[in-house]
Amino acid sequence: MSNNTFYVTTPIYYVNDKPHIGHAYTSLACDVLSRFKRLDGYDSHFLTGTDEYGQKIAKSAEAKGMTPQELTDHFSANFQDLAKTMNFSHNDFIRTTEDRHKKGAQALWIRLEEKGFIYKDKYAGWYAISDEAFVTEDEITTKPDGTKIAPSGSEVTWMEEESYFFKLSEFTEPLLKFYEANPNFIMPKSRRNEVISFVKGGLLDLSISRTSFNWGVPVPNDDKHVMYVWIEALSNYMTALGYPEQTDKYKKYWPANFHVVGKDIVRFHAVYWPAFLLAADLPLPKCIFAHGWWTNEGQKISKSKGNAINPLDLIDKYGLDQVRYFLMREIPFGSDGDYSHDRMVMRANAELANDLGNLAQRVLSMINKNCGACVPAVALLAEHKKQMNIGYDVVDKVRKHMEILSFDNALEEIWKVIRSANSWIDAKAPWKLKKEDPRAMESILYALMENIRCVAILLQPFMPESIEKMLDLLSIPPQNRMIENASETYALQAGIELPAPSGIFPRYEESES
Ligand code: MSP
Repeated sequence: MSNNTFYVTTPIYYVNDKPHIGHAYTSLACDVLSRFKRLDGYDSHFLTGTDEYGQKIAKSAEAKGMTPQELTDHFSANFQDLAKTMNFSHNDFIRTTEDRHKKGAQALWIRLEEKGFIYKDKYAGWYAISDEAFVTEDEITTKPDGTKIAPSGSEVTWMEEESYFFKLSEFTEPLLKFYEANPNFIMPKSRRNEVISFVKGGLLDLSISRTSFNWGVPVPNDDKHVMYVWIEALSNYMTALGYPEQTDKYKKYWPANFHVVGKDIVRFHAVYWPAFLLAADLPLPKCIFAHGWWTNEGQKISKSKGNAINPLDLIDKYGLDQVRYFLMREIPFGSDGDYSHDRMVMRANAELANDLGNLAQRVLSMINKNCGACVPAVALLAEHKKQMNIGYDVVDKVRKHMEILSFDNALEEIWKVIRSANSWIDAKAPWKLKKEDPRAMESILYALMENIRCVAILLQPFMPESIEKMLDLLSIPPQNRMIENASETYALQAGIELPAPSGIFPRYEESES
């Protein structure tokens, strides 16, 4: 991997449901990160996709009178549509039912088997047939008549099934050593601590195949078995790059810089996945970043409550870039947080329409009316330069926050510039200087344009469509919209014509009813 490449992945999403805010959130974070890296000169590769195997899919296809493949084709399309609607810039979308995935997952299996980390045994335990789940001894209650009951209330029976196992138990020590040598492997810190204490408890071998259904990737040389969920699903991060072939893509992008995941699946990514890779003697990803969960107006989101948030409804109501901004701004990435209509409207109106939208509109209309619709020529004094520097100085701070996926802090730094520009324009009142000191007015407007230019460049990853319009209003050519252009060296040239300004962030108005 050269220093200039970057690889970020989302989890592959189960196709048994409609996309909800959780899916949109994980992918959005990866999109913002990947766009930022590209603007910062990196060759960034962004992978997302769908996880299409398993017994549930097979069952629901049967119930609908469809083949599992027909069902997954239908549901995977929803995720691809969401990615389009949300303006995600992924370079690849992997479906686990594709041949490239099947080949790669089987190759990884064979490699682990050859290295002696896979063996065949029996998987035995209490099984709740109606829940399709094994239940541990401590979860079971026994009725007076002797029937054993799972926490869900379903009856359990003793089941024995032949299964392949991965020798995860051999990796307790190697993993702990690895975490210690790589303190940033699991972020944020709280998750790292959780994972470490889980591993310290000792790891058991892991069942990695099933014979009870066949909608899965067949185990190499034993067609009775299909690979069981995690070993197969996790390998997508490499199979999408062409693994096991040493393709250009694989050589360029593996190991990944970030696997971004929700906190519920951190264990699979931070324990199983590195153990598989250590066993296979393949390079490990640099960081597993676990984000928190959204609640809806203070309520836990659950199927039974029927309170899932459909991202498409939010976009229809508030606008795409407003939703993108809200999700990245509202809570620190890594923490849990609450979605609420009031907070959404506050961010869209107070921060986007007022702070940013009005600033750009005021400055650009004054220039349009009073400076011949061109970037004004200037005689910059120390105070103008000082205001301009506030914009330039924020670039490194934003870059540092983006490196650790601290999206809310990156936005807060950008907003400090916006708020400072708004206070300065009020203090300087350039509209009053038109007659008495037009040169001063022009210099003030120029310095403010420079602030707007810097913040717009930095905001592109978050709100690509709206900010593209803003940069067009500033007449910034496409090749000058990189992060490095947000500096004095690339300051606006006097005399460049500007188009007629128009509003970019409409206010959200509550409907009467
Ligand atoms: N298929 C597995 C991942 C395999 S990766 C090799 C899977 N799929 S999923 O469809 O269930 O993933 C959903 C993603 O959405 C997870 O990252 C999960 O954390 C996230 N979320 C689900 N509900 C969420 C919220 N309420 N809030 C934020 N994210 C949530 O797991």
